[in-house]
Order: sequence, then structure tokens, then C-alpha cells
Amino acid sequence: MTPLRLTDRYGRVATDLRVSLTDRCNLRCAYCMPAEGLAWLPKPQLLTDDEISRLVRIAVERLGVTEIRFTGGEPLIRPGLRDLVASAAALQPRPSLSLTTNGIGLDRLAQPLVDAGLDRVNVSLDTLSAERFARLTHRDRHADVLLGLAAAVEAGLGPVKMNSVLLRGINDDEAAPLLRFALDHGYQLRFIEQMPLDAGHTWSRERMVTAEEILAALEAEFTLLPDPAERGGAPAQTWLVAGYPGPPRVGVIASVTRPFCAACDRTRLTADGQVRSCLFSQDETDLRALLRDNATDTQIADAWALAMFGKPAGHGIDDPAFLQPARPMSAIGG
Ligand SMILES: C[S@@+](CC[C@H](N)C(=O)[O-])C[C@H]1O[C@@H](n2cnc3c(N)ncnc32)[C@H](O)[C@@H]1O
Ligand code: SF4
Repeated sequence: MTPLRLTDRYGRVATDLRVSLTDRCNLRCAYCMPAEGLAWLPKPQLLTDDEISRLVRIAVERLGVTEIRFTGGEPLIRPGLRDLVASAAALQPRPSLSLTTNGIGLDRLAQPLVDAGLDRVNVSLDTLSAERFARLTHRDRHADVLLGLAAAVEAGLGPVKMNSVLLRGINDDEAAPLLRFALDHGYQLRFIEQMPLDAGHTWSRERMVTAEEILAALEAEFTLLPDPAERGGAPAQTWLVAGYPGPPRVGVIASVTRPFCAACDRTRLTADGQVRSCLFSQDETDLRALLRDNATDTQIADAWALAMFGKPAGHGIDDPAFLQPARPMSAIGG
């Protein structure tokens, strides 16, 4: 079967599927969720494991998707995660399989997930201070994240990537210390500019820590050398660090100040079965309704392709008419 492809009207082709497995989380990162949590999606609205596996199969077999990243909310709290990974790993052509997680519980789950077929992991960690971590996430779980990172390496998930978001006045003095920590442990660090995706709508362009500031802080302590490799659709611009041989050690995902929408190759599926062509879309396409209405694989693939054809050219954060999406990052899937 020749796959349809997820092409949009600007000629971009989506081959990278982000699947949100839950909107729930065991942390409350200030830039993502309010301290009191959110009104979680009711269980009947969530896709079942079988429904997720079917959509992932359609994406790979019929729509040319080659990479699957499981995310959330916190994907490690979904009981069926191991089986979802195993079912995706059995597909032909086998997609590459990765996970974005806050790392809590990864000390127990890293090896079973590798055994199921997981290839790579990104672990989010924004601070080296347990006390700051507790303030930033409203949970005292810093030590668990460190254990999770170490277990990921031990289980063979290397190179482990670490994601960090810097917030002004909270951890914006940690760019260089986080890089030193990552270099010392062999993690590849990715700073992510804070985006207007917090449930509390507190983001402001004036207060966000920019890629330029992050790079200036790093360059005060390290010599960064541009990565000679083609960037392709990768969201992070990456650098080698002088004195640390091997692959690029640090990257910045400058979604706000250096948008990479023209090269975006993502398609997203929310935990309740909605396709989003962009993190910042105002529109969603309801695949869950099709699934539960006994639609054929072809009908679902066609609906998915149509949804992606309408992908906007860019997120438009700089446009005066920009509207933050109704769903926060945790409910879309980061
Ligand atoms: C939404 S989380 C989901 C996966 C998992 N719970 C985690 O934290 O890694 C995915 C990534 O999005 C990042 N993120 C969440 N809200 C963000 C925001 N408003 N701006 C930039 N990155 C954000 C997190 O730091 C994390 O690295
Ligand atoms: S960023 Fe991840 S860990 Fe933090 S609250 Fe959002 S979903 Fe949870």
C-alpha cells in the first residue's frame, strides 16, 4: 500500500507524530499547570489503549509517519504505556519510538520500556536545586527525576536528552550550571523558550527568557561551536561544546524568538483523540468520533490527511491577533 502523506498546502510533510497519553500529571510546573491542577478529561473521553494503537498503526502504515513520541501530561502515569510501546515497535516499517517525561518513576520503568522497544527519552529538569524544584513544580520530587535520568542511561536509552525551561527570577541563573551538569553526566541538554501555553495564561513576551539570553549566559562559561550537521525539521538549533567531544551537547528550541514553523514536520494527537496540526492551532479534528462510529482505516487516514492539509503557516505568536489555544500544553501534548 502506498501511503498517503500528511502534506500541507505549504509543501511540508509531517512524519513525526506526538501522541499525548494523558492530560494528567504528578507535577505542577508553573509554566504549564496551575498548582491546584486542572479539570481532567473524563475517562470515557480518553482514547483506550486499543484506540491509540490503531491510530498509531494508521499513521505509520497509511500516512508515512516514521517517528512516534509519547508525551502528555505525564506519559509514565498511563498504565498501558509499556504495551503501547510494544505495539508501535511491532509495526512495519518500524517507527522510531521516544518518550518525553518528567522522569518520575523512570527508575523502575526505563528497562521495561527499553525491552518493549523504546529507543530514546527526553527528561525534563529545570533546576539543580531540590528546593527550587519544589517551588517550581509544587512537588518535592527532585531526587526522583535524578534517579530517572540515571536509570535511562543504565537501560541503554542514551544519548539521554534533558529539557529545561528557564523562568525569569526563578531559575534564569541556571543556564550554565545545567549545562555543566548535563556535560558531566553525558546528557544532551535542550533549553526550550517558554511558550504561551500555560493554563493560567501568565506568559508574557517581556518576561520570557530568550534564546539570546540563554546563549549569552552559556558563552560566558563555555565555547560553543555551531553544529555542522543539517538541522532538517529539528526544533533545536544545536552546538558542540569545546572540550567535550562527541555529538552536539546543547541546543535551544527558540519557538518564540526564532520560530522554525517553515520546517515543521509534526502532527499531534491529544489524549482524547483530536488531531492538531500545530501546538497553537485553534482547530482540532475529532478522530475519536470516527473510531467510535466504526469508520474504516481509510476514512480515518483521509480525515487525518485533510486536517494536516490545513496546517497554518506559522504559530503567529508575534501577530497582534494571536490567540493562545484553549488547551494548555499538558492537554495538547508537548
Ligand atoms: C508538556 S510536557 C509533557 C511531558 C512531561 N510531563 C514532561 O514534562 O517532560 C513536555 C515538555 O513541554 C515543556 N513545556 C511545558 N509547558 C511549556 C511552556 N509553556 N513553554 C515551553 N515548554 C513547555 C516541558 O518542560 C516539557 O519539557
Ligand atoms: S511540564 Fe510536564 S511535568 Fe510539568 S506540569 Fe506539565 S506535563 Fe507535568
